Amino acid sequence: MSGYGRECAEIVRAARSGSYKIGMILGSGLGALAEEVEDPVRIPYSHLTEFPVSTVTSHSSELVAGTLAGVPVVILSGRAHYYEGGDPTVMRTPVETLKELGCEILLATNAAGSLRTEVAPGSPMLISDHINWSGMNPLIGEEDEKRFLDMSTAYDPQLREAMKKVAEETGDPIAEGVYMWFSGPSFETPAEIRMAKTLGADAVGMSTVPEVIMARFVGMRVAAMSIITNYGAGMQTHALSHDETKAVALQGMERMKDLVRAFVKEIGQ
Ligand code: HPA
Repeated sequence: MSGYGRECAEIVRAARSGSYKIGMILGSGLGALAEEVEDPVRIPYSHLTEFPVSTVTSHSSELVAGTLAGVPVVILSGRAHYYEGGDPTVMRTPVETLKELGCEILLATNAAGSLRTEVAPGSPMLISDHINWSGMNPLIGEEDEKRFLDMSTAYDPQLREAMKKVAEETGDPIAEGVYMWFSGPSFETPAEIRMAKTLGADAVGMSTVPEVIMARFVGMRVAAMSIITNYGAGMQTHALSHDETKAVALQGMERMKDLVRAFVKEIGQ
């Protein structure tokens, strides 16, 4: 089973030649980082074979190739989610495209709910590991032995160290924790949040895990970061909403931009 990564990489190369080092996926409300790219070409997902156009407002659905902090990067601004059509492989072609363009590293970002009172909305959280609670896996149906993918160090230890180092240097140390993937699109219940805490999660969200599995499958090293947009259901007095997710992600992104730029510079040498 294979997607259209090669074909899409050719479309990108025709618009802007060169090889790229770091691929990024930007989640809900986090698209502002794509504005920081220098010497960019922007390609709408609709021009890229098999790229899924997200139905979620606040996802812009374009690929931006250029440089950030002098490092060649490809940013996927907007992702599609499992809950949009029930397909856990929906991000297969986009991840393969990054790989075909030469990206050795994936930085995935998302909006997430915090299960830890000390990690407040607006803060970033570096993902150290995940729990796949959805029961889904993008490698279901793969036929060869490669499907038995090792996930022991899915979130690359060296990249995590680099992120922590640059966060400390910016004077804003970053929290680190386990991200638990719920299918969504309804938010969790308070009981599910209590369960997630008991099982060892620090944050919950509806994305990222399938892309991380795909990226590891194609041999990329992965770092991932959540922007905490709210506390988990039952931990805050007001109801959860996508409007809140978008608004807080936007503010959190402002705080994250410098961190991501410093991280890219650090690992892109
Ligand atoms: N749960 C799931 N996904 C989310 C949340 C949440 O609380 N916040 C932002 N995305």
